[in-house]
Amino acid sequence: MHVPLLDLTLQHREIRDEVLAAVTSVIDRQQFIMGPEIAVLEAAVAELCRTSHGIACASGTDALLLPLKGLELQPGDEVIVPAFTFFASAGAVANAGGTPVFVDIDPVSFNLAPAAVEAVITPRTRAIVVVHLFGQMAPIEAILALAERRGIPVIEDAAQAIGARRRIGGQWRMAGELGWVGTLSFFPTKNLGGYGDGGMIVTSDPSTAGRLARLRLHGGAKQYHHDEIGTNSRLDSLQAAVLLAKLPYLAGWSAARRARAARYATGLADLVGIQTPGTDPENEHIFHQYTVRAERRDALQAYLRAREIGSAIYYPVPLHLQPCFAHLGYDRGRLPETERATDQVLSLPVYPELTDAQQDWVIDSIRAFYAKR
Ligand SMILES: Cc1ncc(COP(=O)(O)O)c(C=O)c1O
Repeated sequence: MHVPLLDLTLQHREIRDEVLAAVTSVIDRQQFIMGPEIAVLEAAVAELCRTSHGIACASGTDALLLPLKGLELQPGDEVIVPAFTFFASAGAVANAGGTPVFVDIDPVSFNLAPAAVEAVITPRTRAIVVVHLFGQMAPIEAILALAERRGIPVIEDAAQAIGARRRIGGQWRMAGELGWVGTLSFFPTKNLGGYGDGGMIVTSDPSTAGRLARLRLHGGAKQYHHDEIGTNSRLDSLQAAVLLAKLPYLAGWSAARRARAARYATGLADLVGIQTPGTDPENEHIFHQYTVRAERRDALQAYLRAREIGSAIYYPVPLHLQPCFAHLGYDRGRLPETERATDQVLSLPVYPELTDAQQDWVIDSIRAFYAKR
């Protein structure tokens, strides 16, 4: 049985008519740049994240880059980033002129460890990027406590965690709600994916919102008048229309992913060789990825591939050991939990349209692999 890691055609089939109607209306109106869909989407996503402002932009990478540029980093300024994340979290820091300072992760949640953050704060620390990896929030309250005491802004990279929430002081708080800014990606494979690249910054700081809205439009509030040097990082109206059509489905899709995750947890629970992902009891996970730790990971992946089951290694190389960061001088062994994770992780199919039969085939195949050891 064929079980791809993700099959977006299935989701598209369900919502095809709504998406095509939304796209057609943009095409009929011919307002492709900053059309009315943009402000509607910004308001809707800000509301979801419980922030007062949303600033749509060209990608999740730019959603990180724009606020980092806004900090006007000087050579030697440091930004703390987990070493176990997608490249953009750290690449944006370097592109904004800062030096990434990599920290290790908590082995259960794969999210950055607050104690590791505290250990590397220096007088040159200008920001902390908290990544909510795979769809569950990092302990943002602990990081904010460290950062606020020192006046350091916190950027929540919520590219993989739109709509995820965490109980803090007895109240649900959304991914992106509490940091200085939260950043989102609408890359097609994300829980809320466009039909191309896209991203958004959310914030409840009105002056930050105004500044970032200008920076994405060449730094000017008024056309052909430039207060500072920005860039072109707009979201297309077409993408906003697609995302608005999909947004009402997001909560249901994420709940379906949680149900799939629960089924894996049961099906793989007693298996020596597999460690299913841990959810912090204070979190509601959206399972952008369902990522296990596997003994003999590469052999398991090959075995699954032979059975036409898709899987992926997010991420195979820790960021502190990437060649482009060699000049920063990190050696292997420096961030052991990150390095262990990169050797062990395997992400399994977890999309809402996965059938029980397909998921059973994945579970049975993993069990068969470890039975033949
Ligand atoms: C954690 C994280 N940050 C940032 C990004 C960048 O988003 P984009 O691909 O939309 O530029 C991604 C995308 O995969 C991501 O997973």
